[in-house]
Amino acid sequence: MLEVKELTKLFPVGRRRITAVNDVSFRVEENEIFGIVGESGCGKSTLGRLILRLIEPSGGQVFFKGQDISALRRRAMRPLRRSMQMVFQNPFASFNPKIRILSALTEVCRYYGMSADETRDRIGRLFADIGLSEDLLYRWPRELSGGQLQRLAIARALLSDPSLIVADEPLSALDVSVQAQLLNLLKALRGNRSMAMVFISHDMTVVEYLCDRVGVMYLGRIMELLPGSDLSENALHPYTRSLRASSPRLDRFKDGEKSDTAALLKGETPDPSHVLKGCPFAPRCPEASKHCREEIPEIREAAPGHLVRCHLV
Ligand SMILES: Nc1ncnc2c1ncn2[C@@H]1O[C@H](COP(=O)(O)OP(=O)(O)O)[C@@H](O)[C@H]1O
Ligand SMILES: [Mg+2]
Repeated sequence: MLEVKELTKLFPVGRRRITAVNDVSFRVEENEIFGIVGESGCGKSTLGRLILRLIEPSGGQVFFKGQDISALRRRAMRPLRRSMQMVFQNPFASFNPKIRILSALTEVCRYYGMSADETRDRIGRLFADIGLSEDLLYRWPRELSGGQLQRLAIARALLSDPSLIVADEPLSALDVSVQAQLLNLLKALRGNRSMAMVFISHDMTVVEYLCDRVGVMYLGRIMELLPGSDLSENALHPYTRSLRASSPRLDRFKDGEKSDTAALLKGETPDPSHVLKGCPFAPRCPEASKHCREEIPEIREAAPGHLVRCHLV
């Protein structure tokens, strides 16, 4: 469904340039939920925007269903927009406060050229899928909770039957109990449509619970790429293990989880405009050697389907 190849994005900051996304490659298959996780500022949102071509890459390519969309002109992108949708973090900002929910959703359907019958049918079916009462259609956004609005934002993204959804921290503004409900909703929705999802989060526990595979980012680079179910027991990179050990436990969502013994993550994320020659994580890594500080490791396959960028593995 999606292939990202050597994707890079530089931003000019004063006289310097920061590399917000640095040589990122991965594939997402149909029906797969691919997680992108890392601390604030590591380049997750930039990567999400690059995938949907809301911003232009400095280098690399994005293939959607085999087509290189990085080379398409704006006008040629337009018909693809319907199949690629985004869900944002703040549900309160994603609905116009002056428009009732029904009108907001109908407007989207009209934009995609659906008839009135088709629109009614589509909205009705989605409300059933998403577990919302159709009474909400006649409400104003301010009358709804964050959880209800985020369900509606997900419903709105699904109206056009997209093949790919990029969700950028869609749960981060919600209470933990509401997060758990929405996580289960996203899992259920994936089950009955042929859709891929890129799920961006700073929360290790959430991606472990939801995602089939996960890319762990640090300073614009993928440091480890592994099955979500391997995050707590089989992560190899010292960064992934520290991030996991610093996170709340998975029993926030379900029971029965051992805790990791890796060192807790210390120190701040470094300034991305500062160019390092070695491994980007070396300054915070409890295990870093001289080699780590001098040469950046390549990303390598440590086990089938498990990539890691670390000299020590
Ligand atoms: N439009 C921009 N101009 C300059 N720098 C930017 C811009 N967007 C993001 N950045 C920088 O790129 C880096 C990655 O940002 P972002 O992708 O938002 O990270 P995340 O979503 O992981 O928090 C940060 O250092 C951020 O300050
Ligand atoms: Mg972000």
